[in-house]
Amino acid sequence: MTNAWVNHAIKEIDADFQRSADTHLIRLSLADFPGIALYLKDESTHPSGSLKHRLARSLFLYGLCNGWIRENTPIIEASSGSTAVSEAYFARLLGLPFIAVMPSCTAPRKIQQIEFYGGRCHFVENSGQIYAASEQLAREMNGHYMDQFTYAERATDWRGNNSIADSIFRQMSLEPHPVPRYLVMSAGTGGTSATLGRYIRYKGHQTELVVVDPENSVFYDYFLQRDPSVTAQCSSKIEGIGRPRAEPSFIPSVIDSMIPVPDAASIATLRWLEGILGRKVGASTGTNMWGALQLAKQMRDKGETGSIVTLLCDSGERYLNTYFNDEWIAANIGDISHYSEQLAGVR
Ligand SMILES: Cc1ncc(COP(=O)(O)O)c(C=O)c1O
Repeated sequence: MTNAWVNHAIKEIDADFQRSADTHLIRLSLADFPGIALYLKDESTHPSGSLKHRLARSLFLYGLCNGWIRENTPIIEASSGSTAVSEAYFARLLGLPFIAVMPSCTAPRKIQQIEFYGGRCHFVENSGQIYAASEQLAREMNGHYMDQFTYAERATDWRGNNSIADSIFRQMSLEPHPVPRYLVMSAGTGGTSATLGRYIRYKGHQTELVVVDPENSVFYDYFLQRDPSVTAQCSSKIEGIGRPRAEPSFIPSVIDSMIPVPDAASIATLRWLEGILGRKVGASTGTNMWGALQLAKQMRDKGETGSIVTLLCDSGERYLNTYFNDEWIAANIGDISHYSEQLAGVR
C-alpha cells in the first residue's frame, strides 16, 4: 500500500515533468566538415540548469518508490555540484531538507543555486572524500544518501519514456543523417553514457558510443584494463566529469571506445564554442565537443558523411571566475594556446 505523502510526492514530480518542455537539439553545420553535421543536445535549459535535472527527477522517484524517502526524510548527496543543484530543486518541491556534500573548490554559482533552493552545503577537501562524508551525515541525521554514483545507471528509464537517448533519436528523425554515426559523452557518474549505450543496443542502431575522459580520471584506464580497484590521487579539473574511482554507474561494456582529452583541449574548445554558439558553455561540454571534433576529422579524412551528437551539459555562466578567467586558466590548466591555434580556423 502506498503511503499518502509518497503518493502526493510522486504526483508533484510527475506534474512538474508535465509542465516542462524538452531540451533543444542544436545543429552546427561547420564549413570545415562538409556533409558532417554536429549536434549539441542543450541540457542547460532545464529549470535547474544542467543534464542533472533528469537524473535528480529519476533518483527522487526511485527513492520514493523504493520506500527510502518518506515525509521529512533529510536527503544527502555526494556531488561535484550540478546534481546537488538539481536535487535541491526537487527537495524544495517536496518540502524535504537537503544537504550537498561537495569538494570545497565547487563553483560558487552552484553553491548559490543550492542555497537558493533551500539546500545546505557541506564541504570536504577533495572529490575522493565525498562518499564517506555523505554516508556519515546520512547516518547521523537518519537521512537518505541518494548516492548518484551507484544509482544513476539503474534509476534512469533507459528503454524510452523520454529519456535523453529517446529524445535525441526522436529529434534527429528529420535530419539528413537521422541515425548518428557517433554519440559522444563524458562521464561523471557514467549514468548518461549507460543510458545512451543501452538504448543504442535496445533499438539496434548502428551508432557508436564514444566516451571522452579528462585528466585525473580513472574511467579511461578502467575501460582499458577493467580493474575496478584503480584510483586517482588528484581531482578532475573539469567540473562534473572525471572521477578518482571507477564509479558503480559507469558501465564499460556499453561503450564502443574512449578518448582521453587533455584539460587544455577542453578549455580551448569551450572558448572556441563561445564564438560558434554565441554563448558560454561549461567545461564538460568542451571535453565532449573536442571528442566530437576529433571524430569529425576522422570521418572527413575517410571521405565519410554523417552526423555526430554530443551534449551541452551546462552553461558557462556558472564558471565565469574559472574557465572564463585567463588568470585562473594560467594557474590551474596552463598554456592552452596549442589547442586554441588548432581550433582557430575551424568554422
Ligand atoms: C556538468 C556535467 N557534465 C557532465 C556530467 C556527466 O554526466 P553523468 O553523471 O551522467 O556521467 C556531469 C555529472 O555530474 C556534470 O555535472
